[in-house]
Amino acid sequence: MVAPPRRVLELFAGIGGAARAVDGHATVVGAVDHDLRATAVYRANHAGRVHVKNLVSVKDDWLAAFDADLWWMSPPCAPHGIRGAQADVDDRRSAAFLRLLGAVRTVRPSWVALENVPWFQGSRAHGRLVETLDAAGYTWTEGTICPTELGVPAVRRRWYLVAGREGVTPWANPAPSPSAPGRALADHVGPWRDDLAVPDALLARFGDAMHVVDADGPDAVAACFTRAYGRSPVYVGSYLRQRGPRGPALRYFAPEEIAALYGFGTGFSFGDLPAAHAWKLIGNSVSVDAVRHVLTAAGLGDGPSA
Ligand SMILES: C[S@@+](CC[C@H](N)C(=O)[O-])C[C@H]1O[C@@H](n2cnc3c(N)ncnc32)[C@H](O)[C@@H]1O
Repeated sequence: MVAPPRRVLELFAGIGGAARAVDGHATVVGAVDHDLRATAVYRANHAGRVHVKNLVSVKDDWLAAFDADLWWMSPPCAPHGIRGAQADVDDRRSAAFLRLLGAVRTVRPSWVALENVPWFQGSRAHGRLVETLDAAGYTWTEGTICPTELGVPAVRRRWYLVAGREGVTPWANPAPSPSAPGRALADHVGPWRDDLAVPDALLARFGDAMHVVDADGPDAVAACFTRAYGRSPVYVGSYLRQRGPRGPALRYFAPEEIAALYGFGTGFSFGDLPAAHAWKLIGNSVSVDAVRHVLTAAGLGDGPSA
């Protein structure tokens, strides 16, 4: 039986969704991101050492020195998003990912795992990834999963791939149950907050198009929160209808509430970061539950071993 990973290198680490997912099963021996706010939040919440570094020019030797047996990567999804030019590998934001594919070929960690938007699958970047894994002798498994399928009351469908040098066991696909989440949204949100109230002017203009969930609705499921939450009014996530001082009203989800929905736990802190910045970080992040689920393909956690 192949040994599951014990030493994880978290690349494009953001606020550490993978670190939270492997907690209790493996040690994060290093995390890398070039964003100062993300790395500050990471440092405040996780034990692993985080490096502020641009991965575009990272050297193979530097990565190899971590002696990690799993490389986790969450490369930027903007080159593949439904909004934007979809320049794929020609987008300069793909450069770091392409550099890391070169490093995978040379360093050949035992396991490689990735996350991206569903549209990544079939992209040219995806083609380069598969080519690299095949050439370097990996076996891999991939697919999309939404945390609602795991009973989480929050939509976030993403593509995942897990590759192993000695084989992988595909993660089991749970039965879709978007209308019957195992945990209530109410478990993840706090009381009314005046500072998060949706301004009347915004409501008047965009209210009809906003996705609203009732704080105590038993089947409430939040829409996918994006990095534009708080900046754009619609298609960026949900608003919470809750009893305020003057009756039911709409407010934004606090960044910590979204983090709780995404499985980061109630103790996760953004420190004194203004909500606008914290929303961007959590909107860029992952569903910890989904990451934990797909990593069973590498024998981590309670899932099947390869
Ligand atoms: C999709 S987010 C990943 C979020 C992460 N999985 C999490 O749990 O928060 C992509 C991350 O890659 C970082 N990033 C993008 N380009 C980078 C580069 N060239 N070097 C280092 N980090 C980069 C961004 O700052 C961002 O935090």
